[in-house]
Amino acid sequence: MKTILATGGTGYIGSHTCLELLKKGYKVIILDSLVNSSEKVISKINFLLNDKNIRNNLTFIKGDINDEKLLDHIFKLAKEKCEPISCVMHFAGLKSVAESLSSPLQYWHNNVGGSIILFKLMEKYKCRTVIFSSSATIYQISGDKLINESSPINPINPYGQTKLAIERLLKDLYDKGNNWRIANLRYFNPIGAHQSGLIGENPKGIKNNIFPILNGVAIGEIEKLRIYGKNWPTYDGTGIRDFIHVMDLAEGHIKALEYLENNEPQILNLNIGTGKGTSVLGLIRIFENVNKVKINYEFTNRRKGDYGIVIADNSLAKSLLKWTPKRSLEDMCVDGWRWQNNNLNNP
Ligand code: NAD
Ligand code: UD1
Repeated sequence: MKTILATGGTGYIGSHTCLELLKKGYKVIILDSLVNSSEKVISKINFLLNDKNIRNNLTFIKGDINDEKLLDHIFKLAKEKCEPISCVMHFAGLKSVAESLSSPLQYWHNNVGGSIILFKLMEKYKCRTVIFSSSATIYQISGDKLINESSPINPINPYGQTKLAIERLLKDLYDKGNNWRIANLRYFNPIGAHQSGLIGENPKGIKNNIFPILNGVAIGEIEKLRIYGKNWPTYDGTGIRDFIHVMDLAEGHIKALEYLENNEPQILNLNIGTGKGTSVLGLIRIFENVNKVKINYEFTNRRKGDYGIVIADNSLAKSLLKWTPKRSLEDMCVDGWRWQNNNLNNP
Protein backbone atom coordinates (compact mmCIF):
# COMPACT_ATOMS: atom_id res chain seq x y z
CA MET A 1 0.00 0.00 0.00
CA LYS A 2 1.53 3.32 -1.07
CA THR A 3 1.62 6.43 1.11
CA ILE A 4 0.77 9.85 -0.30
CA LEU A 5 1.55 13.11 1.47
CA ALA A 6 -1.17 15.66 0.67
CA THR A 7 -0.09 19.18 1.60
CA GLY A 8 -3.14 21.40 1.91
CA GLY A 9 -5.27 18.24 2.02
CA THR A 10 -8.08 19.68 4.16
CA GLY A 11 -8.68 22.44 1.56
CA TYR A 12 -11.30 22.43 -1.16
CA ILE A 13 -9.55 20.43 -3.89
CA GLY A 14 -7.32 18.48 -1.51
CA SER A 15 -10.21 17.10 0.55
CA HIS A 16 -12.05 15.73 -2.50
CA THR A 17 -8.85 14.21 -3.87
CA CYS A 18 -7.83 12.64 -0.54
CA LEU A 19 -11.22 10.96 -0.30
CA GLU A 20 -10.68 9.39 -3.72
CA LEU A 21 -7.11 8.36 -2.85
CA LEU A 22 -8.31 6.60 0.30
CA LYS A 23 -11.08 4.84 -1.61
CA LYS A 24 -8.44 3.63 -4.06
CA GLY A 25 -6.48 2.05 -1.21
CA TYR A 26 -3.70 4.59 -0.69
CA LYS A 27 -2.53 5.65 2.75
CA VAL A 28 -2.83 9.41 3.05
CA ILE A 29 -1.03 11.84 5.33
CA ILE A 30 -2.58 15.29 5.26
CA LEU A 31 -0.38 18.20 6.28
CA ASP A 32 -2.34 21.43 6.51
CA SER A 33 -1.83 24.63 8.48
CA LEU A 34 -5.62 25.22 8.43
CA VAL A 35 -5.01 28.79 7.28
CA ASN A 36 -7.92 28.35 4.85
CA SER A 37 -9.67 25.18 6.00
CA SER A 38 -10.95 23.37 9.05
CA GLU A 39 -9.98 20.15 10.80
CA LYS A 40 -13.67 19.17 10.68
CA VAL A 41 -13.01 18.06 7.11
CA ILE A 42 -11.17 15.04 8.51
CA SER A 43 -14.22 13.69 10.33
CA LYS A 44 -16.31 14.30 7.22
CA ILE A 45 -13.87 12.35 5.03
CA ASN A 46 -13.90 9.58 7.64
CA PHE A 47 -17.69 9.56 7.67
CA LEU A 48 -17.77 9.23 3.88
CA LEU A 49 -15.28 6.36 3.98
CA ASN A 50 -17.71 4.33 6.01
CA ASP A 51 -15.11 1.64 6.72
CA LYS A 52 -12.95 1.52 9.86
CA ASN A 53 -10.02 -0.16 8.10
CA ILE A 54 -9.85 2.51 5.42
CA ARG A 55 -10.22 5.26 8.03
CA ASN A 56 -7.02 4.03 9.67
CA ASN A 57 -5.23 4.91 6.45
CA LEU A 58 -5.80 8.62 6.99
CA THR A 59 -3.49 10.69 9.21
CA PHE A 60 -3.91 14.41 9.80
CA ILE A 61 -1.06 16.66 10.92
CA LYS A 62 -1.66 20.32 11.58
CA GLY A 63 1.42 22.14 10.37
CA ASP A 64 3.07 24.35 7.82
CA ILE A 65 5.11 23.30 4.79
CA ASN A 66 7.57 26.01 5.84
CA ASP A 67 8.34 23.98 8.98
CA GLU A 68 11.38 22.03 7.81
CA LYS A 69 11.76 20.08 11.07
CA LEU A 70 8.18 18.93 10.96
CA LEU A 71 8.45 17.86 7.31
CA ASP A 72 11.65 15.96 8.07
CA HIS A 73 9.88 14.22 10.95
CA ILE A 74 6.94 13.24 8.71
CA PHE A 75 9.17 11.75 5.99
CA LYS A 76 11.41 10.04 8.57
CA LEU A 77 8.55 8.49 10.52
CA ALA A 78 6.91 7.15 7.37
CA LYS A 79 10.22 5.59 6.34
CA GLU A 80 10.77 4.02 9.78
CA LYS A 81 7.29 2.51 9.66
CA CYS A 82 8.23 0.98 6.28
CA GLU A 83 5.54 3.10 4.68
CA PRO A 84 7.75 5.63 2.89
CA ILE A 85 5.98 8.53 1.21
CA SER A 86 5.97 7.62 -2.47
CA CYS A 87 4.31 10.77 -3.83
CA VAL A 88 3.43 14.26 -2.70
CA MET A 89 0.24 15.91 -3.89
CA HIS A 90 1.09 19.52 -3.31
CA PHE A 91 -2.14 21.49 -2.86
CA ALA A 92 -0.93 23.80 -0.08
CA GLY A 93 -0.89 27.42 -1.09
CA LEU A 94 -2.55 30.78 -0.70
CA LYS A 95 -4.80 31.52 -3.66
CA SER A 96 -6.38 34.96 -3.54
CA VAL A 97 -5.28 37.18 -6.41
CA ALA A 98 -6.33 40.36 -4.58
CA GLU A 99 -4.50 39.38 -1.39
CA SER A 100 -1.38 38.49 -3.39
CA LEU A 101 -1.32 42.01 -4.83
CA SER A 102 -1.44 43.59 -1.37
CA SER A 103 0.83 40.99 0.34
CA PRO A 104 3.29 39.72 -2.29
CA LEU A 105 5.93 38.77 0.31
CA GLN A 106 3.44 36.59 2.14
CA TYR A 107 2.56 34.83 -1.11
CA TRP A 108 6.16 34.26 -2.19
CA HIS A 109 7.12 33.08 1.30
CA ASN A 110 4.18 30.74 1.72
CA ASN A 111 3.85 29.33 -1.78
CA VAL A 112 7.39 29.41 -3.15
CA GLY A 113 9.37 29.33 0.13
CA GLY A 114 7.22 26.46 1.39
CA SER A 115 7.63 24.54 -1.87
CA ILE A 116 11.42 24.89 -1.74
CA ILE A 117 11.47 23.33 1.73
CA LEU A 118 9.08 20.60 0.67
CA PHE A 119 11.10 19.65 -2.43
CA LYS A 120 14.32 19.72 -0.38
CA LEU A 121 12.87 17.11 1.96
CA MET A 122 11.51 15.09 -0.94
CA GLU A 123 15.03 15.00 -2.42
CA LYS A 124 16.51 14.03 0.95
CA TYR A 125 14.11 11.09 1.34
CA LYS A 126 14.25 10.13 -2.35
CA CYS A 127 10.56 10.77 -2.79
CA ARG A 128 10.59 12.12 -6.31
CA THR A 129 7.00 11.95 -7.50
CA VAL A 130 4.97 15.12 -7.18
CA ILE A 131 1.64 16.35 -8.44
CA PHE A 132 1.50 20.11 -8.18
CA SER A 133 -1.63 22.29 -8.10
CA SER A 134 -0.84 24.81 -10.79
CA SER A 135 -3.28 27.16 -12.45
CA ALA A 136 -4.54 28.46 -15.76
CA THR A 137 -3.64 31.84 -14.32
CA ILE A 138 -0.04 31.37 -15.52
CA TYR A 139 -1.09 31.71 -19.18
CA GLN A 140 -1.09 34.90 -21.18
CA ILE A 141 -4.76 35.08 -22.05
CA SER A 142 -5.91 36.88 -25.16
CA GLY A 143 -8.76 36.34 -27.59
CA ASP A 144 -11.03 33.34 -27.65
CA LYS A 145 -8.69 30.50 -28.66
CA LEU A 146 -8.61 27.36 -26.53
CA ILE A 147 -5.50 27.39 -24.35
CA ASN A 148 -3.12 24.49 -24.76
CA GLU A 149 -0.03 23.64 -22.76
CA SER A 150 2.23 25.39 -25.31
CA SER A 151 0.24 28.64 -25.24
CA PRO A 152 2.25 31.69 -24.10
CA ILE A 153 2.90 31.97 -20.38
CA ASN A 154 2.72 35.34 -18.63
CA PRO A 155 1.12 35.56 -15.18
CA ILE A 156 0.10 39.11 -14.29
CA ASN A 157 -0.22 38.97 -10.51
CA PRO A 158 1.96 37.73 -7.63
CA TYR A 159 -0.27 34.67 -7.08
CA GLY A 160 0.25 33.59 -10.69
CA GLN A 161 3.96 34.38 -10.47
CA THR A 162 4.32 32.01 -7.50
CA LYS A 163 2.62 29.20 -9.44
CA LEU A 164 4.95 29.70 -12.39
CA ALA A 165 8.02 29.94 -10.14
CA ILE A 166 7.16 26.56 -8.58
CA GLU A 167 6.67 24.98 -12.01
CA ARG A 168 10.09 26.35 -13.05
CA LEU A 169 11.72 25.04 -9.91
CA LEU A 170 10.26 21.60 -10.61
CA LYS A 171 11.62 21.78 -14.17
CA ASP A 172 15.10 22.53 -12.78
CA LEU A 173 14.85 19.55 -10.43
CA TYR A 174 13.77 17.33 -13.28
CA ASP A 175 16.58 18.57 -15.55
CA LYS A 176 19.16 17.85 -12.87
CA GLY A 177 18.38 14.14 -13.19
CA ASN A 178 17.53 11.74 -10.33
CA ASN A 179 14.41 10.44 -12.03
CA TRP A 180 11.77 12.87 -10.84
CA ARG A 181 8.22 12.18 -11.91
CA ILE A 182 6.30 15.47 -12.01
CA ALA A 183 2.83 16.53 -13.08
CA ASN A 184 1.92 20.20 -13.05
CA LEU A 185 -1.87 20.18 -13.20
CA ARG A 186 -3.07 23.53 -14.46
CA TYR A 187 -6.59 23.81 -13.12
CA PHE A 188 -9.20 25.94 -14.85
CA ASN A 189 -12.28 26.82 -12.74
CA PRO A 190 -13.20 24.11 -10.24
CA ILE A 191 -16.67 24.49 -8.73
CA GLY A 192 -19.29 22.24 -7.12
CA ALA A 193 -18.82 19.78 -4.30
CA HIS A 194 -18.90 16.10 -3.38
CA GLN A 195 -22.37 14.79 -4.11
CA SER A 196 -22.94 13.93 -0.44
CA GLY A 197 -22.87 17.65 0.31
CA LEU A 198 -20.51 16.94 3.21
CA ILE A 199 -17.34 18.45 1.79
CA GLY A 200 -17.04 21.46 -0.48
CA GLU A 201 -15.49 24.88 -0.84
CA ASN A 202 -15.39 26.70 2.47
CA PRO A 203 -13.09 29.72 2.13
CA LYS A 204 -12.25 31.78 5.18
CA GLY A 205 -12.49 35.56 4.85
CA ILE A 206 -13.66 37.48 1.80
CA LYS A 207 -15.05 35.41 -1.06
CA ASN A 208 -13.56 36.30 -4.46
CA ASN A 209 -14.51 33.48 -6.80
CA ILE A 210 -17.85 33.29 -8.49
CA PHE A 211 -19.29 30.08 -7.09
CA PRO A 212 -18.94 30.80 -3.35
CA ILE A 213 -20.43 34.24 -4.11
CA LEU A 214 -23.30 32.66 -6.04
CA ASN A 215 -24.02 30.39 -3.06
CA GLY A 216 -23.72 33.39 -0.73
CA VAL A 217 -26.32 35.31 -2.72
CA ALA A 218 -28.63 32.29 -2.87
CA ILE A 219 -28.67 31.92 0.94
CA GLY A 220 -29.07 35.68 1.42
CA GLU A 221 -25.67 36.21 3.04
CA ILE A 222 -24.60 38.43 0.11
CA GLU A 223 -27.13 40.90 -1.27
CA LYS A 224 -26.21 40.76 -4.96
CA LEU A 225 -23.77 39.16 -7.33
CA ARG A 226 -21.80 41.95 -8.95
CA ILE A 227 -21.08 40.89 -12.52
CA TYR A 228 -17.74 42.28 -13.62
CA GLY A 229 -18.50 43.75 -17.03
CA LYS A 230 -21.21 43.32 -19.65
CA ASN A 231 -19.23 44.29 -22.71
CA TRP A 232 -16.80 41.39 -23.05
CA PRO A 233 -16.59 40.05 -26.61
CA THR A 234 -18.79 37.07 -25.76
CA TYR A 235 -22.31 36.02 -26.80
CA ASP A 236 -23.97 37.75 -23.82
CA GLY A 237 -21.22 40.23 -22.91
CA THR A 238 -20.20 38.48 -19.65
CA GLY A 239 -16.96 36.60 -19.03
CA ILE A 240 -16.67 32.99 -20.11
CA ARG A 241 -14.90 30.33 -18.04
CA ASP A 242 -14.21 26.63 -18.19
CA PHE A 243 -15.97 25.38 -15.07
CA ILE A 244 -15.05 21.87 -13.97
CA HIS A 245 -16.65 19.74 -11.26
CA VAL A 246 -14.26 19.33 -8.33
CA MET A 247 -14.83 15.55 -8.38
CA ASP A 248 -13.70 15.35 -12.01
CA LEU A 249 -10.64 17.29 -10.94
CA ALA A 250 -10.07 14.87 -8.04
CA GLU A 251 -10.32 11.92 -10.42
CA GLY A 252 -7.81 13.65 -12.70
CA HIS A 253 -5.30 13.58 -9.83
CA ILE A 254 -5.72 9.84 -9.37
CA LYS A 255 -5.22 9.29 -13.10
CA ALA A 256 -2.14 11.52 -13.08
CA LEU A 257 -0.71 9.57 -10.14
CA GLU A 258 -1.33 6.23 -11.83
CA TYR A 259 0.22 7.55 -15.03
CA LEU A 260 3.36 8.76 -13.25
CA GLU A 261 3.66 5.51 -11.29
CA ASN A 262 3.40 3.37 -14.42
CA ASN A 263 5.63 5.31 -16.80
CA GLU A 264 9.19 6.47 -17.12
CA PRO A 265 10.31 9.51 -15.10
CA GLN A 266 9.04 12.63 -16.83
CA ILE A 267 7.65 16.10 -16.33
CA LEU A 268 4.12 16.84 -17.52
CA ASN A 269 2.18 20.06 -17.84
CA LEU A 270 -1.51 19.31 -18.17
CA ASN A 271 -4.58 21.49 -18.52
CA ILE A 272 -7.38 20.23 -16.30
CA GLY A 273 -10.62 21.68 -17.60
CA THR A 274 -13.62 20.49 -19.59
CA GLY A 275 -12.85 22.30 -22.84
CA LYS A 276 -16.26 23.99 -22.68
CA GLY A 277 -16.97 27.60 -21.84
CA THR A 278 -19.93 29.03 -19.92
CA SER A 279 -20.67 32.70 -19.37
CA VAL A 280 -21.34 34.25 -15.97
CA LEU A 281 -24.98 34.85 -16.97
CA GLY A 282 -25.20 31.29 -18.29
CA LEU A 283 -23.97 29.92 -14.97
CA ILE A 284 -26.48 32.04 -13.06
CA ARG A 285 -29.34 30.75 -15.25
CA ILE A 286 -28.38 27.12 -14.75
CA PHE A 287 -27.96 27.62 -10.99
CA GLU A 288 -31.39 29.24 -10.77
CA ASN A 289 -33.09 26.57 -12.86
CA VAL A 290 -31.71 23.47 -11.22
CA ASN A 291 -31.87 24.79 -7.66
CA LYS A 292 -35.12 26.75 -7.96
CA VAL A 293 -33.63 29.87 -6.37
CA LYS A 294 -33.39 33.47 -7.52
CA ILE A 295 -30.01 35.14 -7.87
CA ASN A 296 -29.99 38.92 -7.55
CA TYR A 297 -27.30 40.51 -9.63
CA GLU A 298 -26.16 43.84 -11.01
CA PHE A 299 -23.58 44.79 -13.60
CA THR A 300 -20.49 46.63 -12.52
CA ASN A 301 -17.12 47.56 -14.04
CA ARG A 302 -14.65 44.98 -15.20
CA ARG A 303 -12.41 43.63 -12.42
CA LYS A 304 -8.74 44.62 -12.67
CA GLY A 305 -6.69 41.89 -14.31
CA ASP A 306 -9.77 39.99 -15.51
CA TYR A 307 -10.07 38.20 -18.86
CA GLY A 308 -12.95 37.69 -21.27
CA ILE A 309 -12.65 34.07 -22.30
CA VAL A 310 -10.62 31.33 -20.60
CA ILE A 311 -11.19 27.81 -21.90
CA ALA A 312 -8.87 24.81 -21.80
CA ASP A 313 -7.76 22.64 -24.63
CA ASN A 314 -7.82 19.52 -22.44
CA SER A 315 -6.95 17.03 -25.18
CA LEU A 316 -3.49 16.20 -23.79
CA ALA A 317 -4.80 15.29 -20.32
CA LYS A 318 -7.64 13.28 -21.87
CA SER A 319 -5.45 11.24 -24.18
CA LEU A 320 -2.48 10.75 -21.87
CA LEU A 321 -4.32 10.03 -18.64
CA LYS A 322 -7.35 8.32 -20.18
CA TRP A 323 -9.38 10.79 -18.14
CA THR A 324 -12.62 12.47 -19.12
CA PRO A 325 -14.54 15.01 -17.09
CA LYS A 326 -18.00 13.45 -16.75
CA ARG A 327 -20.12 15.83 -14.71
CA SER A 328 -22.33 18.55 -16.19
CA LEU A 329 -22.79 22.16 -15.19
CA GLU A 330 -26.13 21.13 -13.73
CA ASP A 331 -24.31 18.61 -11.51
CA MET A 332 -21.86 21.31 -10.43
CA CYS A 333 -24.68 23.67 -9.47
CA VAL A 334 -26.80 21.05 -7.70
CA ASP A 335 -23.89 19.54 -5.76
CA GLY A 336 -22.42 22.93 -4.86
CA TRP A 337 -25.77 24.19 -3.61
CA ARG A 338 -26.39 20.98 -1.61
CA TRP A 339 -23.04 21.55 0.09
CA GLN A 340 -23.94 25.15 0.85
CA ASN A 341 -27.21 24.11 2.49
CA ASN A 342 -25.59 21.39 4.58
CA ASN A 343 -22.77 23.68 5.51
CA LEU A 344 -25.19 26.29 6.83
CA ASN A 345 -26.14 23.94 9.65
CA ASN A 346 -22.79 22.26 10.17
CA PRO A 347 -19.95 24.50 8.99
P1 NAD B 1 -7.84 25.92 -0.41
O1 NAD B 1 -7.43 27.23 0.18
O2 NAD B 1 -9.19 25.41 -0.10
O3 NAD B 1 -6.78 24.80 -0.02
C1 NAD B 1 -5.42 25.08 0.19
C2 NAD B 1 -5.05 24.47 1.53
O4 NAD B 1 -3.68 24.73 1.78
C3 NAD B 1 -5.85 25.09 2.68
O5 NAD B 1 -6.43 24.04 3.43
C4 NAD B 1 -4.80 25.84 3.50
O6 NAD B 1 -5.11 25.81 4.87
C5 NAD B 1 -3.54 25.08 3.15
N1 NAD B 1 -2.29 25.83 3.24
C6 NAD B 1 -2.00 27.05 2.71
N2 NAD B 1 -0.73 27.37 2.98
C7 NAD B 1 -0.20 26.34 3.68
C8 NAD B 1 1.08 26.08 4.24
N3 NAD B 1 2.08 26.97 4.14
N4 NAD B 1 1.29 24.91 4.87
C9 NAD B 1 0.29 24.01 4.99
N5 NAD B 1 -0.94 24.21 4.51
C10 NAD B 1 -1.17 25.36 3.85
O7 NAD B 1 -7.64 26.06 -1.98
P2 NAD B 1 -8.02 25.05 -3.13
O8 NAD B 1 -9.04 25.70 -3.97
O9 NAD B 1 -8.28 23.70 -2.58
O10 NAD B 1 -6.68 25.05 -3.95
C11 NAD B 1 -5.68 24.06 -3.78
C12 NAD B 1 -4.49 24.43 -4.63
O11 NAD B 1 -4.92 24.55 -5.99
C13 NAD B 1 -3.88 25.79 -4.26
O12 NAD B 1 -2.47 25.67 -4.38
C14 NAD B 1 -4.42 26.74 -5.32
O13 NAD B 1 -3.54 27.78 -5.58
C15 NAD B 1 -4.53 25.81 -6.52
N6 NAD B 1 -5.55 26.25 -7.50
C16 NAD B 1 -6.84 26.44 -7.08
C17 NAD B 1 -7.79 26.88 -8.02
C18 NAD B 1 -9.21 27.12 -7.60
O14 NAD B 1 -9.95 27.73 -8.37
N7 NAD B 1 -9.68 26.65 -6.46
C19 NAD B 1 -7.41 27.12 -9.35
C20 NAD B 1 -6.09 26.90 -9.71
C21 NAD B 1 -5.16 26.45 -8.78
C1 UD1 C 1 -9.67 33.83 -10.54
C2 UD1 C 1 -8.32 34.49 -10.63
C3 UD1 C 1 -7.30 33.41 -11.04
C4 UD1 C 1 -7.32 32.25 -10.04
C5 UD1 C 1 -8.74 31.70 -9.91
C6 UD1 C 1 -8.84 30.65 -8.82
C7 UD1 C 1 -8.60 36.85 -11.14
C8 UD1 C 1 -8.50 37.89 -12.21
N1 UD1 C 1 -8.36 35.59 -11.56
O1 UD1 C 1 -9.96 33.28 -11.80
O2 UD1 C 1 -6.01 33.97 -11.08
O3 UD1 C 1 -6.47 31.20 -10.47
O4 UD1 C 1 -9.65 32.77 -9.60
O5 UD1 C 1 -8.57 31.19 -7.57
O6 UD1 C 1 -8.86 37.14 -10.00
N2 UD1 C 1 -17.14 37.16 -11.55
C9 UD1 C 1 -18.13 38.12 -11.41
N3 UD1 C 1 -18.44 38.54 -10.17
C10 UD1 C 1 -17.84 38.06 -9.04
C11 UD1 C 1 -16.84 37.07 -9.19
C12 UD1 C 1 -16.50 36.65 -10.45
O7 UD1 C 1 -18.69 38.59 -12.39
O8 UD1 C 1 -18.18 38.49 -7.93
C13 UD1 C 1 -16.81 36.69 -12.89
C14 UD1 C 1 -15.39 37.04 -13.32
O9 UD1 C 1 -15.33 38.29 -13.94
C15 UD1 C 1 -15.10 35.88 -14.28
C16 UD1 C 1 -15.90 34.70 -13.72
O10 UD1 C 1 -16.89 35.28 -12.88
O11 UD1 C 1 -15.60 36.19 -15.56
C17 UD1 C 1 -15.07 33.75 -12.89
O12 UD1 C 1 -14.37 34.49 -11.88
P1 UD1 C 1 -13.55 33.77 -10.70
O13 UD1 C 1 -14.39 32.72 -10.07
O14 UD1 C 1 -12.98 34.82 -9.82
O15 UD1 C 1 -12.41 33.00 -11.49
P2 UD1 C 1 -11.30 33.53 -12.52
O16 UD1 C 1 -11.44 34.97 -12.80
O17 UD1 C 1 -11.34 32.65 -13.71
